[in-house]
Amino acid sequence: MKTAYFAGGCFWCITPTFEAIEGVSSVVSGYCGGDEVNPTYADVKAQKTGHRETIKIEYDETKADYSRLLEIYLSSVDPYDAEGQFIDKGFSYTLAIYYTDDEQKKEVDRQIADLKAISSMEVCIAVEPFKAFYDAEEYHQDYHLKNPEAFEKELIESGRKIDYELVNAQLQALVEDNKYTISNLSNASALIYDSLDRLNWAGFYLMEDGKLILGPFQGKVACMEIPVGKGVCGTAVAKDETQLVADVHKFPGHIACDSASNSEIVVPIHKDGKIYGVLDIDSPYLNRFSEHDKAGLEKFVSILEKCGIK
Ligand code: SME
Repeated sequence: MKTAYFAGGCFWCITPTFEAIEGVSSVVSGYCGGDEVNPTYADVKAQKTGHRETIKIEYDETKADYSRLLEIYLSSVDPYDAEGQFIDKGFSYTLAIYYTDDEQKKEVDRQIADLKAISSMEVCIAVEPFKAFYDAEEYHQDYHLKNPEAFEKELIESGRKIDYELVNAQLQALVEDNKYTISNLSNASALIYDSLDRLNWAGFYLMEDGKLILGPFQGKVACMEIPVGKGVCGTAVAKDETQLVADVHKFPGHIACDSASNSEIVVPIHKDGKIYGVLDIDSPYLNRFSEHDKAGLEKFVSILEKCGIK
């Protein structure tokens, strides 16, 4: 059995991600990095102890490896926030990796260097040797299982998860009584850009003359034509399915309109049984979009199909 220690902001929030990994036998919430022995949650949160909220992950090295755990950690936190994570601010919520041996340290240095190489913003993750871990109070352990409703609320209120019910209700209200497609798509792109965090582009490409032509959007100037089958957008049309791309640099033929983009989601839009265009959203973060975003954005597109596109 091996151990990894990651500080990723609120420990409740990052626990379920690691519990779901095959080979992980336990995830414990606790405190790391400071000198105080057996700190309390209240003192850590009040920034009196120098500790960070940290999870201790025990895993069977024949089934899970440190490199994979680290990749998942780096893609589930906001590596550019020096003040904390999402709504939780203060030193105890800042990012840190506590390594236990040279092998872990080497892997951490390698993956952080890779992240820095593609980042347009500064990476803010402390890398420190492991000293001691103190278990948090029992009510913090597996908080998501003990308090599922409060936990879901916490994810939405903290900004870790978008409330698509709200966004989609806003879209419905905006477009249902407006007969002009261009203004509906313009407001739809503004609504996405405003409601989702960590984006650098959101908008539409629409089918004209057998290819995708740039439509209403928010963000930097973008390429105006995309052939069907090319790039993430053209692939979404050719396959007629949503493309959820965790790392655009690994997507064959990705078209880089804005070099800041690192992940992307593209949802096809239909009208009268044919492809009408795509909703395309880009983020400077790796792995920004989840299955939760995919489901919410497919619902968003279905509202446009029903009453936004006239
Ligand atoms: N990246 C897209 C091109 C459009 S921009 O992201 C706005 C693609 O590969 O299709």
